[in-house]
Amino acid sequence: MSRFIIEGGTSLKGDIPISGSKNAALPLIAASLLVEETTLRNVPRITDVARMCEIIEYLGGSTAWKDEHTLQINTGNVRPKELPPAARTLRASILFAGPLLARFGEAELPYPGGDVIGARPIDSHLSAFEKLGVIAEEKETLKLNRKKTCGGKIVLEETSVTGTENLVMLASACTEETEIRLAAAEPHVQELCKFLQKAGVSISGIGTTTLHMSGPVTKKTVEHTVNPDELEISAFAALAAATHGEITLHPVDPQYLDAILLQLEKIHVNVTLKGDTIHIQPPQGAYQSHRLQAGLYPKLVTDHLPPLAVLATQAEGPTLVHDWLFEARQSYLRELIKMGANVMIMDPHRALVIGPTPLYGKEVVSYDIRSGMAMIIAALVARGTTTITGIEHIDRGYENLEERLKNIGANIERIDS
Ligand code: EPZ
Repeated sequence: MSRFIIEGGTSLKGDIPISGSKNAALPLIAASLLVEETTLRNVPRITDVARMCEIIEYLGGSTAWKDEHTLQINTGNVRPKELPPAARTLRASILFAGPLLARFGEAELPYPGGDVIGARPIDSHLSAFEKLGVIAEEKETLKLNRKKTCGGKIVLEETSVTGTENLVMLASACTEETEIRLAAAEPHVQELCKFLQKAGVSISGIGTTTLHMSGPVTKKTVEHTVNPDELEISAFAALAAATHGEITLHPVDPQYLDAILLQLEKIHVNVTLKGDTIHIQPPQGAYQSHRLQAGLYPKLVTDHLPPLAVLATQAEGPTLVHDWLFEARQSYLRELIKMGANVMIMDPHRALVIGPTPLYGKEVVSYDIRSGMAMIIAALVARGTTTITGIEHIDRGYENLEERLKNIGANIERIDS
């Protein structure tokens, strides 16, 4: 199993280039099924993107990298068929359901996989689909079929990110208006809606929890640039602050960063935003503990919490880490305890991180994408050597991570075995 070996305590200084957003690139790849030719720019070279491209090709489409981060997708020859087993390796495979139903009226796929951080039910997807005339057959695979006419008002049972993404892709086939309430408004939902607008779909309310839209798709080709990953921005900001580094993050998209910048300021991180660049400098005083509470966007969303919880081990006082969304996302906290952090697990959704405490290098496990990044930050803070196993999870979400960290002075090696 591949692993990272990290020597902590080195001073970090320099620039970290921010990649395109994983959680925007994945639905945009699925949405390419709604048109014939799609060009996506600033796509991160991560394993989840590779999996999604494999599935497009399995369905009869073609994908080609025009340069390091520009992906061209042609779906002219795509025909509906059951998705391949690769669909089980990531959550985002569920996002093929909406566009396949929109284009062909049918979809058959395995139940999605991805991070093991909770039950992650897809009921909210299916109940919303049913309101648009989709019949779901849940056996060893998920078989979906829809009647021709669709449109109407839908109140999402959960403000699900991929649920909203699936629904807007399906509703792009409806010529009758679809009204979606309690929709998710994450940056990646907004970027997908902008893609659909470019494809000819009429959508209003983007960025709010109420969307009004009507199809159909009228364009054959769409070009879109993936936005900088706000989850990378918060993780690298936490890394820079926790290691007292002097780091520049670029490019960033300020329109999606309110909650992150507010959290960093409340902790007294020495952070400045200038245009599309964030500067983090060593702190002028002690970091302050400040509640880390997951919310629905535009609040601080759950994926920001693991890296910021590592910073909390270096802040004065108790930080409540409260993630009400996932019931099994605390594995990284148990790994932090191994490294010397003072953490009180209160229940499956809440923990108290009491700082500041020194961290010590240990052998730890990366259980999912964001906890993997948390382990890397902890290892860079810690005194001594840390071995992180399970780094295939990290590769799912972060491109060339060890190169980017070496470039700011980190002592990190990847050992493939
Ligand atoms: C997406 O997953 C992301 N994945 C996840 O990121 C992210 O953690 C999650 O949204 C929340 O922001 C992708 O975009 C590919 P959900 P998704 O349906 O759509 C509960 C990462 O690290 N919930 O929004 O599967 C719900 O039951 C991954 O990039 C409520 O209880 O997540 C589920 O357990 C990990 N009530 C959890 O929250 C609500 O109103 C997330 O739900 C809404 C959600």
